[in-house]
Amino acid sequence: MRLSMGSLTGVQRVAAKSLAPGKKEAIVIAVAAQKGGVGKTTTTVTLGAALARFFEKEVLLVDLDAQAHVHLSLREMVNAGGDSLAELLEEPTTREVAEVAVGTKIPGLEVTPGCPELARAENRLSTRIGKELVLRELLSVSRTHYDVILLDCPPNLGNLTINGLVAADCVLIPCNPAMLSVSGVEGLMGAVGEVQAALNPSLSVLGLVLTRVDQRNSATNTLIASLLAENFGDLLSTVQIGADAALSRAQLAGKDVFAYDPHSRAAGQYVELAEWVLGRVAALRQPAHEEAATDSSASG
Ligand SMILES: Nc1ncnc2c1ncn2[C@@H]1O[C@H](COP(=O)(O)OP(=O)(O)O)[C@@H](O)[C@H]1O
Ligand SMILES: [Mg+2]
Repeated sequence: MRLSMGSLTGVQRVAAKSLAPGKKEAIVIAVAAQKGGVGKTTTTVTLGAALARFFEKEVLLVDLDAQAHVHLSLREMVNAGGDSLAELLEEPTTREVAEVAVGTKIPGLEVTPGCPELARAENRLSTRIGKELVLRELLSVSRTHYDVILLDCPPNLGNLTINGLVAADCVLIPCNPAMLSVSGVEGLMGAVGEVQAALNPSLSVLGLVLTRVDQRNSATNTLIASLLAENFGDLLSTVQIGADAALSRAQLAGKDVFAYDPHSRAAGQYVELAEWVLGRVAALRQPAHEEAATDSSASG
């Protein structure tokens, strides 16, 4: 029996999205590092809170880590509701990330709920066609509803992190002043290069930020900072985040540091980092010809 064309109508492109487009064009920033414990989640949460609280940005935090630390560290601030991000990643869907996100007590800040099933999604993604492009597609309409989308990536280069790098416009890399963290940066830079070459040519490195800098180890800090500056030049953020127990205490209390201890040193430093990030984003978005004009007028 020959198949009639009618019987093929089930083979269609995925149906139209259920989320109506908004009017914004978010910058999507992957916060990534190959190592755990370098401050990815703390930076995602605190930077996101700073952008929403002090710079009037509409911010979405996407927790790509099955450990659900974004939700845990903000648990007293996050409203009830939301849905599973893993489900969106596992099967073709018309839904978008913005539709599973939930609001917080911080005006302008939304988060995806903690999702332990992401461990399962990490494996199931392997079986999907176009497995590296799934998150990018799930954010295509969502990004028209926010100014900034921060992706908190897991501490490895698996499917979820690669999806994060493919979906992102740029990557922010937290790093501790320790040799092993520095070698992790090189590994991640390699992955960024591969993603640029194969899947996302417009991906750029927003910057590298030193976190948990303990002032008591000033010799080590200086050595590591100069090593990073030598290798990564002005990608290294001029703002450093010091070691500050206010951050871990805020996480234990389930609040952002601005709610928990607004006068702490870390609170001030993360506001400075937010300003630095916005400056870098503005420079990234400046069209090349304008950049050239600015350069020549500055030199002339
Ligand atoms: N600047 C800092 N000062 C002190 N403790 C920090 C700082 N940044 C992060 N921490 C703590 O270090 C631990 C790991 O940080 P986290 O952000 O979860 O790292 P990652 O997401 O890279 O695994 C957490 O317990 C956190 O509270
Ligand atoms: Mg984390």
